[in-house]
Amino acid sequence: MMQRLTSLSMAIIGVFLVGCDWMPGKPTRAEESVLPTDVHAFNTLYSANCSGCHGANGQFGAARPLNDPLYLSLADTAYLVQVTTDGVHGSLMPPFARKQGGGLTNQQVSDIVNGMHRTWGNADDSQAAPPLVSSTKGNPARGSSLFASHCAACHGKGGTGGRTAGSVVDSTYLSLVSDQSLRSVIICGRLDLGMPNWQGTLNGSPASERDGLPPLNDRQISDLVAFLASHRVEFPGAPFPSLGNPRGSGTQVP
Ligand code: HEC
Ligand code: HEC
Repeated sequence: MMQRLTSLSMAIIGVFLVGCDWMPGKPTRAEESVLPTDVHAFNTLYSANCSGCHGANGQFGAARPLNDPLYLSLADTAYLVQVTTDGVHGSLMPPFARKQGGGLTNQQVSDIVNGMHRTWGNADDSQAAPPLVSSTKGNPARGSSLFASHCAACHGKGGTGGRTAGSVVDSTYLSLVSDQSLRSVIICGRLDLGMPNWQGTLNGSPASERDGLPPLNDRQISDLVAFLASHRVEFPGAPFPSLGNPRGSGTQVP
């Protein structure tokens, strides 16, 4: 009798153990640790890898907003995958793919890119904007006069800074950004910070500083980029304010 009871209770416990995944002390599904390469949720991947520079929720970061339907309608999947995989050489945008020394699998790079398009993109945002990437060579002199008409009202004469916006010809700033990022900002603006897009609009309404001016085309944008880029110098940050211009008559830098 005793013998039978025991095997019966063993059988019951056995059924219990097989039928249910619970044991005292065993972590629940939610508590189980997940390998970093097994994370695929867009919000988690974006917060852990991108938000520090591109901003929480894709805005108000130091680097351009990615939560921008116009930008996402122009930046196709192949372009976004390439930039995220390889980074931008010479800028603070790091490469993320494992084969480039980053921490993300190819699948995770796709998860982020698809997540940006799905969460922040707007497929209907198909404005006739100039191409995001272009090989049109710009002319700095033409860019300088365009800057005077389209940009100086906010960025000051020659771009050295105005009442509404800061300097865009500062050599330190220019040493940290690529021509492509200048082009992207002239086309898409920085809607989070108050910089209008290629049409001169800001969140749908025309910026008064661009009032009456036609939208910028591909060649004009290349001209503006060439004008800004012409302010890059060999030694960014120089001349040091307290030392004067090293090539001028002021104090010589040793
Ligand atoms: C350490 C700061 C930093 C981090 C982290 C970072 N970025 Fe960037 N990102 C930048 C900078 C700076 C640029 C501008 C690079 C340049 O000058 O072209 C940039 C540019 C980009 C661009 C191209 C913008 C353009 O002009 O077309 C994309 C797309 C982008 N980042 C996506 C991402 C994604 C996705 C992540 C996360 C997986 C990420 N970034 C994480 C700093 C960062
Ligand atoms: C309505 C005012 C306004 C006009 C017009 C304007 N900007 Fe801006 N721009 C801003 C503001 C605001 C920012 C945010 C940073 C700051 O405050 O300086 C900015 C930022 C920028 C940046 C830096 C963006 C970054 O994140 O790296 C560049 C480059 C730039 N503008 C170029 C231009 C050019 C070129 C034009 C002319 C086609 C122009 N801007 C016209 C207001 C303006």
